[in-house]
Amino acid sequence: MVKICCIGAGYVGGPTMAVIALKCPSIEVAVVDISVPRINAWNSDQLPIYEPGLDDVVKQCRGRNLFFSTDVEKHVREADIVFVSVNTPTKTRGLGAGKAADLTYWESAARMIADVSKSDKIVVEKSTVPVKTAEAIEKILTHNSKGIKFQILSNPEFLAEGTAIQDLFNPDRVLIGGRETPEGNKAVQALKDVYAHWVPEDQILTTNLWSAELSKLAANAFLAQRISSVNAMSALCEATGADVTQVSYAVGKDTRIGPKFLNASVGFGGSCFQKDILNLVYICECNGLPEVAEYWRQVIKINDYQKNRFVNRVVSSMFNTVSNKKIAILGFAFKKDTGDTRETPAIDVCKGLLGDKALLSIYDPQVTEDQIQRDLTMNKFDWDHPLHFQPMSPTTVKQVTCVWDAYEATKDAHGICILTEWDEFKTLDFKRIYDNMQKPAFVFDGRNIVNAEQLREIGFIVYSIGKPLDAWLKDMPAVA
Ligand code: NAD
Ligand code: UDX
Repeated sequence: MVKICCIGAGYVGGPTMAVIALKCPSIEVAVVDISVPRINAWNSDQLPIYEPGLDDVVKQCRGRNLFFSTDVEKHVREADIVFVSVNTPTKTRGLGAGKAADLTYWESAARMIADVSKSDKIVVEKSTVPVKTAEAIEKILTHNSKGIKFQILSNPEFLAEGTAIQDLFNPDRVLIGGRETPEGNKAVQALKDVYAHWVPEDQILTTNLWSAELSKLAANAFLAQRISSVNAMSALCEATGADVTQVSYAVGKDTRIGPKFLNASVGFGGSCFQKDILNLVYICECNGLPEVAEYWRQVIKINDYQKNRFVNRVVSSMFNTVSNKKIAILGFAFKKDTGDTRETPAIDVCKGLLGDKALLSIYDPQVTEDQIQRDLTMNKFDWDHPLHFQPMSPTTVKQVTCVWDAYEATKDAHGICILTEWDEFKTLDFKRIYDNMQKPAFVFDGRNIVNAEQLREIGFIVYSIGKPLDAWLKDMPAVA
């Protein structure tokens, strides 16, 4: 029986390994982590991450050929294939701070693999890493190997949160990079054999190591660039009376462009896009390519601009101040169908409104008050360091309350900001909400999910990203 061990039981390691275990009953899969609460949660009925369909997959395999454990060394020692799916956050200090990937967790995992191994292994980079990381990992492993042979593969993950299980069941492609040597080819084939249990062979792409590593950064940069492009257009739409939804539709009808990933929003969030583009920018700078670095940096700049623009619009519409006004925040997660708040645009929007002394009442169906308070008190980039798993610091933001109901959040509020596109927000009783709010009552739709015309008929003043502005908003121009 082939034995797989995955180091890192997070958003990628957990779901990916659960699907491998489901699709490959002949393979024993152990997912290990240094975080005891995370592993305990994986072994309980309350999984540590919310992901549609995940519970079902885990229940089918856990205890059969899928195991979650904190005994990292034992499972690594016994494995034939070791996936490394640890966090690779942005460095917060030292060389490259604020841009470069922090490979501390990766390096310590690699050193541990070298220390405990007693047999040859394939080591798979599942984490998103800078190009040439495999070379560094190879050096660590071979210099500490006591004669054991390691083959390094790059197998970046392309799942998106909220649809992870579907993405894993039907991936657009699986990418495997390896050394172009007989041993490298053999290792690539061994990993191909795992995926071939359910992924058609022509969708399993093989490349050299550096292409696989760079393809992951490139794919995220291209995806994020589409959102920044449409968000840049949304500002121009508001200035000219064009409607960004109509523009996106017309543009996306061109088969060379395609219709997906063209929804204007308050900004993209999530643990990957910003981190991976900053990392790409840093790699370009290190390779003497400042123009290329600057090109990609603009994707982040437009994203920051879009979040600022939203805050400015809220404040300027409400007589240029939100001081002591109750603002309801509907949605805090970075997208629907996840409880993940890493780099969610809601953090920057809430901080912006708090800076203007607003009183926030926040509701998200999947995010706890502890998490929201932690996000609003944490420094930029700290979230992906082990701090993540420490108990919440005693600091709380007093201007913030968190509630478990959209009607409670909006009661007596002056304005509503919709920051996540949860389906339940589309069917709220907005007449009831309007009746219980201060007047004039505002809705700022950062996801374009409500029917603005219907809300205007009720009496709301409505702002929708990239849509023609109503008379009120035109009279209260936002300074960018
Ligand atoms: P995560 O923070 O959810 O999980 C990482 C886990 O690794 C944590 O539970 C942490 O405790 C554990 N860990 C760290 N060092 C360890 C060590 N030495 N030994 C054992 N466990 C250790 O992160 P994630 O979202 O799963 O992302 C993991 C990697 O995958 C990152 O490089 C990320 O860029 C990449 N990625 C993420 C996504 C996504 O949607 N989240 C998608 C594709 C790729
Ligand atoms: C992304 C990539 O899609 C995935 O392939 C990679 O493996 C990890 O990073 P994820 O961050 O989980 O996945 O979600 P994604 O669906 O890409 O959304 C990212 C952000 O962009 C969210 O905040 C989302 O709301 C926003 N978005 C997405 C838009 O604003 N408009 C769109 O049209 C699409």
